[in-house]
Amino acid sequence: MIKHTVKKFSPGAGEGGNRGVQKNIVVIEGDGIGPEVTRQSVKVLNAIAERFNHEFSYSYFLMGAVAIDKTSNPLPDETIEASLNSDAILFGAIGHPKYDNDPTAKVRPEQGLLKLRKSLQLFANIRPVATYPSLQHLSPLKTKNIEDVDFVIFRELTGGIYFGKKEVNAENTVASDDCVYTREEIERIAHLAFKQAQLRRKKLTLVDKANVLETSRLWRKVVQEIAKEYKDVAVDFLFVDNAAMQIILNPKQFDVILTENMFGDIISDEASVISGSLGLLPSASIGKGAALFEPIHGSYPQAAGKDIANPLGSILSAAMLLDHFGLHKEAELIREAANWTLRNGFVTKDIDPVNFYFTSTIGELISDYVGGKIPGDINKANVELRKSTII
Ligand code: IPM
Ligand code: MG
Repeated sequence: MIKHTVKKFSPGAGEGGNRGVQKNIVVIEGDGIGPEVTRQSVKVLNAIAERFNHEFSYSYFLMGAVAIDKTSNPLPDETIEASLNSDAILFGAIGHPKYDNDPTAKVRPEQGLLKLRKSLQLFANIRPVATYPSLQHLSPLKTKNIEDVDFVIFRELTGGIYFGKKEVNAENTVASDDCVYTREEIERIAHLAFKQAQLRRKKLTLVDKANVLETSRLWRKVVQEIAKEYKDVAVDFLFVDNAAMQIILNPKQFDVILTENMFGDIISDEASVISGSLGLLPSASIGKGAALFEPIHGSYPQAAGKDIANPLGSILSAAMLLDHFGLHKEAELIREAANWTLRNGFVTKDIDPVNFYFTSTIGELISDYVGGKIPGDINKANVELRKSTII
């Protein structure tokens, strides 16, 4: 069951019953499989707009390797400008192998995403982790350990070691990256995480390395203070090395995990494989203005253009985007449609390498479902199935 319980994290978002909203969405398809998965989300959003009388307009901009190729800049100014003026950003994926193994490259695709996060002040990255009964056999963990796993990671996204002063000496023999946090940076994401915990199972775990790092000790201090304002939320603290272990040993224990930038990067990838497919998980990055929604998977260059990537991570990110607009009923319908495809075996190659459907077919099925166009007794034989030739 897809039951991401990230609830109403947009302050002021209306409760259901919205009719005819108008929104400007910036679409950044990005690299690798980014374009093909993002196109499925746009299809699904269009089906939602039609059914619920909303008007979504899309404008397309460049970021990542594709932007470097076309403009020599991983994040052209016009992408920043349009994003700042949008209601939300739907983003595909970033990265290209030609930059990965070249430590001397001066320009990298990922710089585009980091700069966009900073420019839009997207300080909170929210990644829900849930498991699905029909995919349990794909999880690297034992079934009994993953049933009912349902937690959400709040990762700080615009501070810490990612954005501290970077130095390398002239001889290229010594390098450093500063890790800096201010009280204000910790407070703003901590409040969001506590509010989310109040809407869920009322448990918050701060992941840090307070036995070693000064920044972690500041996180603990600030979170302990803020906890006094959320007396109904139980707070505990885990060192990141222990947290990495606990996520594998007993992921059910978590409800809301709050952590700094780099620890969040690492444990959220770790957590993402619990469900059985990295291709399924969505994320939201929110801040002061427009929010950004993206699947957590990378650009998967080997699959680019083959119509085999799993579009659910992107489509479920589009559901989070609708939640952010306060369109909860619409978001729920997308999750219901995604569950329906999984239950009925309409899955991509990552989930069933033998009997699989194309990326675009899944996108069409989900948009038909949300558009109310799927008959209850759908004849699977009419939906084109691909069979692997290497069986
Ligand atoms: C992520 C990614 C990025 C990060 C990269 C692409 C810069 O791994 O969104 O988790 O490290 O934040
Ligand atoms: Mg990452």
